[in-house]
Amino acid sequence: MKFFIDTANLEDIQKAYKIGVLAGVTTNPSLVAKEGIRFEQRIEEILQLVPGVESVSAEVTPDAVTAEEMIEQAEKLILLNGRDPSITIKLPMTTAGLEATRYLSQKGVKTNVTLIFTVNQALLAARAGAAYISPFLGRLDDISEDGIQLVTRIAELLRIHDLDTQIIAASVRHPDHVTRAALAGAHVATIPYSVIEQLVKHPLTEQGMQKFTSDWLNVFEGPST
Ligand code: E4P
Repeated sequence: MKFFIDTANLEDIQKAYKIGVLAGVTTNPSLVAKEGIRFEQRIEEILQLVPGVESVSAEVTPDAVTAEEMIEQAEKLILLNGRDPSITIKLPMTTAGLEATRYLSQKGVKTNVTLIFTVNQALLAARAGAAYISPFLGRLDDISEDGIQLVTRIAELLRIHDLDTQIIAASVRHPDHVTRAALAGAHVATIPYSVIEQLVKHPLTEQGMQKFTSDWLNVFEGPST
């Protein structure tokens, strides 16, 4: 399973990119609004910050309601950063979103269908030609449903029907979501930076580092007698 970061914050993207395991970035209208910056400008900045990643998802804005409006926005987004090959158009799971997905994927544009909450939605998006589909784990867990079970079932569906759409486990809230999404067959998890930091840390790793340091200092850098 690959790691994408789920944010429009440049500082967090840069920190994650520096670690060396980042394969992409996802954004959505809420994440861009949080940064209070013009949408296309921020997508361009992100593309420049993470050269060579597999995918940077730019979601059509909520005022694009019809497929034509979504396609019109997508056609501007694909020109950003000199037609950056990472650009992926993120579209909502609506009939218009599916229509736009079909149109764009036939033109060779990578798409990510977002707000997936059922296996049927996943199948529709995959059949429309989506390169990625994003089931939202945390938001399902919030309503006492099982987000991980959805990923397991979608992964099985894609395998049975030999569909090459990739699952992006989204709305990831904690490290256990990451582990379980990987074991359930998600191709990607898109994760906020706070959770990436949690993945790195373990109290026994920290204790171990302290012990190595004190043992070393006692022998090699202790007071000379
Ligand atoms: C996915 O691409 C979305 O940006 C995201 O994961 C939403 O997560 P949330 O439920 O934490 O808002």
